[in-house]
Amino acid sequence: MFVPWLVAFIAVLSAQVESAKILGIFWTFGRSHYITGSVLLKTLAASGHEVHVLSSVEDDTNIPNFKHELLTGIQGPDILNKNKSVISHIVEFIPLLNNNVEKFWKNEAVKRLIKTKPKYDVVIVLTVFNDFVLALSHYLEAPTIIYSAMSTNIFNNKYVANPNLPYGENMVIPLNTFIGRLSYISMNVIMSAADRYVLGSIQNEITKKYLPGAPSVEELIKNVTLVLVNTHFSIESPRPYVPNMIQIGGFHSQKIKKLPEDLQKYLDSAKDGAILFSMGSVVKVGENIPEEQLNIIMTGLGKIAPIKVLFKSEVEIQTAPKNVLVSKWLPQNDILAHPNLKVFISHGGLGSTTEAVYHGVPLLGIPFFGDQKTNIASVIKAGFTIGLDHDKMTQETFDSAIRELLTNSTYAANAKKRSSLFKNQPVKPLDNAIWWVEHIIEHKGGQHLRNVGMDLEWYQLYMVDIMLFFVVVITTILVISFFVTRWMMRKVFKLFSQNPKKVKKQ
Ligand SMILES: *[C@@H]1O[C@H](CO)[C@@H](O)[C@H](O)[C@H]1NC(C)=O
Ligand SMILES: *[C@@H]1O[C@H](CO)[C@@H](O)[C@H](O)[C@H]1NC(C)=O
Ligand SMILES: *[C@@H]1O[C@H](CO)[C@@H](O)[C@H](O)[C@H]1NC(C)=O
Repeated sequence: MFVPWLVAFIAVLSAQVESAKILGIFWTFGRSHYITGSVLLKTLAASGHEVHVLSSVEDDTNIPNFKHELLTGIQGPDILNKNKSVISHIVEFIPLLNNNVEKFWKNEAVKRLIKTKPKYDVVIVLTVFNDFVLALSHYLEAPTIIYSAMSTNIFNNKYVANPNLPYGENMVIPLNTFIGRLSYISMNVIMSAADRYVLGSIQNEITKKYLPGAPSVEELIKNVTLVLVNTHFSIESPRPYVPNMIQIGGFHSQKIKKLPEDLQKYLDSAKDGAILFSMGSVVKVGENIPEEQLNIIMTGLGKIAPIKVLFKSEVEIQTAPKNVLVSKWLPQNDILAHPNLKVFISHGGLGSTTEAVYHGVPLLGIPFFGDQKTNIASVIKAGFTIGLDHDKMTQETFDSAIRELLTNSTYAANAKKRSSLFKNQPVKPLDNAIWWVEHIIEHKGGQHLRNVGMDLEWYQLYMVDIMLFFVVVITTILVISFFVTRWMMRKVFKLFSQNPKKVKKQ
């Protein structure tokens, strides 16, 4: 009895890396980026690793092996202003970036790391316009893994030379047209150039003050071993992924916790169904949704009684109808898992979209900023979402969207289909993420996964130089052939015109 048990125990132990030291650096103005990403760090702690986290988002989780230190001073951009162009968003981001780089290095917890230089087996960095943070993992001489809270795009493809080809969904113009691809690529070129030459040089300059001799951002990104992207092909359109870019979408929604008793009762009693309304952590009902639109929403939700609504809002709402329960905090993922939940009204953040896909709940998407429109566009294509523009929303469009989602079973069926695609994987996303982190620890880096594209310039990677070479060669051959042919024709013509009789004889 005892021996097989012991063998099994040893087998489990040896399949894993022994307790490793892991540093997480989550310097982000996106609260939800930390909330989702920290699930990975906490699970690593629970599987026996010693996890130390520096983050700009507070966290009072008290679990063994998990040490959290708060970093202060980060400032987020005004992403909710839709009037601004991409260029003006970048220009206005510059002073914020200056502040955010300076403030990072001024944090005591960061200074202490520089002073004591502790040994870590791996550093996990959350990136979003903060590549300079990689200077710290370089200094600590630990292999670096990137966690990207976004789906694949130019900002995370660059770490592993994953191809930046037109695979998005956000374009007004279809991507299979020339104009569609042209505008997609042009936008990517502008953003990549701004990221590399404008934002990159600011980060380099300030970082050198605090960490003399730090390599440039451009050099640092070449040493990233692995990128964990918060996406999956059941959420975004299929596209290539190099072997060190791992899709872990759904990793944060896979663990369902028990609902608080009052919510459990509320949802259990919703025999006709329930709806969840939540705009995530950045969009504030009181600040960002004008009264007029809130009235539309409340009136619309009142009409669908006896269907019950859980409505997340940081402010109380006097006009809320009887079937709407307003709450400051709601455990979104656990609510979405409840069988009575029929529709999720969401801003379409990647975390929320993923949770909806995972639990197979039809979406009413009301996007506000950033990648939300792209996310919503992807799930509209998947057939279980209706999208509304919050600026143009009317009572009529809101009511009909809700009615359609509740009554037309196509949406629920498509949501269930996506959910089963999402869940039908050989390994669960969180287990996959843990496996890859341990793989990098075990092999002390990821040199074996590294894509040769990382050593190439963009024009080499996209073979622009090769194509130009072919164009030049083919043009040269054509030009030479043209002149040779013309020369020969002239000769022949001359020959014939000088000896017209000879020709006639033949
Ligand atoms: C955007 O522009 C419109 C029209 O010019 C204006 O009414 C609105 O207040 C602006 N929004 C913001 C957030 O500045
Ligand atoms: C990148 O990694 C190589 C090999 O581990 C190391 O020699 C080099 O110094 C690193 N460079 C940077 C910029 O981190
Ligand atoms: C249900 O929705 C689908 C997808 O939008 C649509 O094709 C279909 O006609 C709708 N069915 C009814 C009965 O309205």
